[in-house]
Amino acid sequence: MPVPYGSGIMHKENQFEEMSDNFDKFSKLRQDYDQGSLSKKSVLPNPFDQFEKWYEEASRSTIKEPNAMVLSTSGGNGRASSRMVLLKGFDEKGFLFYSNYRSRKGQEMAVNPYVSALFFWDVLEQQIRIEGTVERLSAEESDAYFKLRPRKSQIGAVASAQSEVLASREQLEEKFDQIAADYPEEQQEIPRPEHWGGYRISPYYFEFWQGRRSRLHDRICFNQRPDGIWSVARLSP
Ligand SMILES: Cc1cc2nc3c(=O)[nH]c(=O)nc-3n(C[C@H](O)[C@H](O)[C@H](O)COP(=O)(O)O)c2cc1C
Repeated sequence: MPVPYGSGIMHKENQFEEMSDNFDKFSKLRQDYDQGSLSKKSVLPNPFDQFEKWYEEASRSTIKEPNAMVLSTSGGNGRASSRMVLLKGFDEKGFLFYSNYRSRKGQEMAVNPYVSALFFWDVLEQQIRIEGTVERLSAEESDAYFKLRPRKSQIGAVASAQSEVLASREQLEEKFDQIAADYPEEQQEIPRPEHWGGYRISPYYFEFWQGRRSRLHDRICFNQRPDGIWSVARLSP
């Protein structure tokens, strides 16, 4: 049973000793950044083109999953929540990902379409922040993507009531096996559950961040004006 923080069970002196050890450990973690630079002149005028340029570079690097991004949402109570999702495509209209519409994030996005996405590519010392509004893809678009998924991922999507409490791991595995048994033939198509599908984030804000020496990082941001034109600015690091 974990001891609740602040319960007074731990001896105070030990507690401070442990905390200062902790500070020491973290304060020694220092990294200077010198891989690249970014300016209002060097950045491409359209943020989608700049995203594509950096994404291509990230894809050619050693990063295992450059398409992994942190998606932050908040529902009606205004409390933020974040988790990783995989970017599955992008074009001039937005950034696509797939999930369960009934999940925690799905419920939050149904109430509040304002979301943010964050990419962090540590070997390139870069982050990209995107803010925008989210909408569901059409059933046809979600079907088309679902069909492309490996069969076991399709079964997993059907089997998992994402974000709901599970009694046990076994319960999930039994559900998986039962669905696999319902569709024994490889060529038998597994239908996409109605509550599973795609989203598109339509951004109104981008920030491209490049780590620099002495914490003097480059931050170039794009804000979309009401006439659709992107205005560019440099932010203090
Ligand atoms: C690298 C990585 C990629 C992931 N990609 C997805 C994804 O594309 N869609 C998804 O629903 N969950 C994905 N997950 C799982 C989510 O992070 C999360 O656990 C799940 O969606 C439930 O989140 P929620 O309860 O806040 O809705 C991924 C996790 C990791 C670590």
